[in-house]
Amino acid sequence: PVPPAPVEKLLGFAAVSKSLADSVVVPAGYTASIIYALGDPLAAATPAYKNDGTDTDYDNRAGDHHDGMEWFGLSGTGTPSLTSVDRGLLGMNHEATTDETKASFFLHANGGTTTLPRPAAEVDKEIPIHGVAIVEVKKTGAAWAYVKDSTFNRRITPMTVAEIAGPARGNALMTTKYSTAGTTTRGTINNCGTGKTPWGTLVTGEENWNGYFTRGAADNAARGNDKSVTSLNRYGKSQGGASRHGWESAGADDKYARWNIGVTGATAADDYRNEMNTFGYIVEIDPYDKTKSIKKRTALGRFAHESAAFGKLEAGKPLAVYQGDDSRGEYIYKFVSNANWDPADATAADRIATGDKYLDAGKLYTAKFNADGSGQWIELSISNAAISGYAGYAFADQADVLVNARLAADAVGATKMDRPEWCATNPANGEIYFTLTNNSNRTVNSATTPPDAANPRAYTDMKGATAQAGNPNGHLIRLREGAAGAAATAFTWDVYLFGAEASASKSLVNLSSLTDDQDFSSPDGLAFTPSTGICWIQTDDGAYTDVTNCMMLAALPGQIGDGAAQTLSYTKADSSQLNVTTPVGKAPTADTLKRFLVGPKASEITGICETPDGKALFVNIQHPGESTKAADIGDPTKYTSQWPSNAGFGAGNRPRSATIVITKNDGGRVGT
Ligand code: FEO
Ligand code: CA
Ligand code: CA
Ligand code: CA
Repeated sequence: PVPPAPVEKLLGFAAVSKSLADSVVVPAGYTASIIYALGDPLAAATPAYKNDGTDTDYDNRAGDHHDGMEWFGLSGTGTPSLTSVDRGLLGMNHEATTDETKASFFLHANGGTTTLPRPAAEVDKEIPIHGVAIVEVKKTGAAWAYVKDSTFNRRITPMTVAEIAGPARGNALMTTKYSTAGTTTRGTINNCGTGKTPWGTLVTGEENWNGYFTRGAADNAARGNDKSVTSLNRYGKSQGGASRHGWESAGADDKYARWNIGVTGATAADDYRNEMNTFGYIVEIDPYDKTKSIKKRTALGRFAHESAAFGKLEAGKPLAVYQGDDSRGEYIYKFVSNANWDPADATAADRIATGDKYLDAGKLYTAKFNADGSGQWIELSISNAAISGYAGYAFADQADVLVNARLAADAVGATKMDRPEWCATNPANGEIYFTLTNNSNRTVNSATTPPDAANPRAYTDMKGATAQAGNPNGHLIRLREGAAGAAATAFTWDVYLFGAEASASKSLVNLSSLTDDQDFSSPDGLAFTPSTGICWIQTDDGAYTDVTNCMMLAALPGQIGDGAAQTLSYTKADSSQLNVTTPVGKAPTADTLKRFLVGPKASEITGICETPDGKALFVNIQHPGESTKAADIGDPTKYTSQWPSNAGFGAGNRPRSATIVITKNDGGRVGT
């Protein structure tokens, strides 16, 4: 007789304990397998990765710091498929590289040259380990592997030609020596979160791109102290600001010189003063067609992007795309398309043209959260008097508003948030969730970011004592659109969950009453997997790593309004009281929030996607080995992590960012 099918219970697994082991821990009954790591070859002619600092040809290898990741199914004949469960493409961000100093030290035999000028041979390896990869993965029997010689494999690096699309295309702000017409640029960099469009393309967010540029100590004067200085300062590149890797120092060739954005020529067409304006966007990539240009969708605004989440689709209505700006005190945004959704476009043959239709024209809004649980979307439009008349910056046109979206959002008084990281839409009810990872500037006596209803915690350390300023643990907020759906300009919201140590004060810190099976800090990656509807929360922690490595939790959240308001009382330095009341969701139970995975040492867990049957879950382990001292390069025992070589994966013994696939040993869905 055929045995009965196992009874499936969502979150039926046994919670994983906190861990400081240098390994990936998953629940009993599950297996995590490493399938794609830094340096793995993506072309038949590229040799296997030696992982000893002598490898080259990074244009044809996996990049570093795997981050956001999306699944794109492939049929047996290699056509796009919405149902395939054993063959597909992963569209994956390679955000950054492990660098205690200027050099990406695990990439070079001796750790690299940490002083300027940087050797061109080192820089030529470091540039292409950034960007995005499209990599085919396939299941043979029960085992997943990536396909080294797949014709779909593609690397997009900071040198790949990219089209400027949308309202800023051809604007004077985009004029560079490379594209005097302001219509193209090269590459994408510091790609953090991802999203998947309803028509089957990858969207990837450019986050900490400002760090790669430099400008000299006399640059403000060279610019005539014009408004571009205001823009540069607002986007974190003040006069004299150094670059992260010193790539501009590697030679006169344009591929190095472009990272110096100082004024050196007579006009913007003679130098790279505007090069930084061509970064900071949501970039659209067709994973199935490497002949298609990548496009920077300027209509969605320029800031430190994480993911891009599409709201609930309704035929005949506009699309909404939700986005966060991950910096302390930055804002939440929503783009609303002019075009109305046509379900036939879900299978459009020309996917990038479909992106042109929906993502190049629309309205960009920023969010204002009110204390009573209501909120407004405020349009960032040049026709808004608060923007056109803003004293802080003279906007020339709508393109200027989009390129300097942070300044426009300042002008309209948007709510300063505790570092908005990923966002995701709950398929069960259309509510939109945001992780707010932490904010050391959220302090009781702050003039600009005191605690408020949407960012209510400003305790002084994880236990509510006095050692550390700000909100080190972060929280998750969620919002529900008004009756107009995607186009609504009013919403309701509450705080879904507060990160905290289980042992912390339940009145000051552990406001969600987390237990030892649930406690976490600094939520970052976030996704609802469609097959089960589980909400996965991934952490990138700076405050709890003395107790546990970063982790991933599985959640079954309820809905806005299922909890009650809480009031936090603070005493300010002048002895006055500050009371903050905030709407808070129902506290989780052992059945609605459970730790599912803990990663290796010195890693962040980020990026997640699944096969449509929910039986394979892909997760990225980013930067094991971070904070290793450059001087310790020859001594693996001094590396902060030796994963994945200590798990028997690959050659060499240097730590590598990697993709893992998680399956259930009984063949069931992941998260049950
Ligand atoms: Fe790349 Fe904000 O995390
Ligand atoms: Ca992130
Ligand atoms: Ca983060
Ligand atoms: Ca990280």
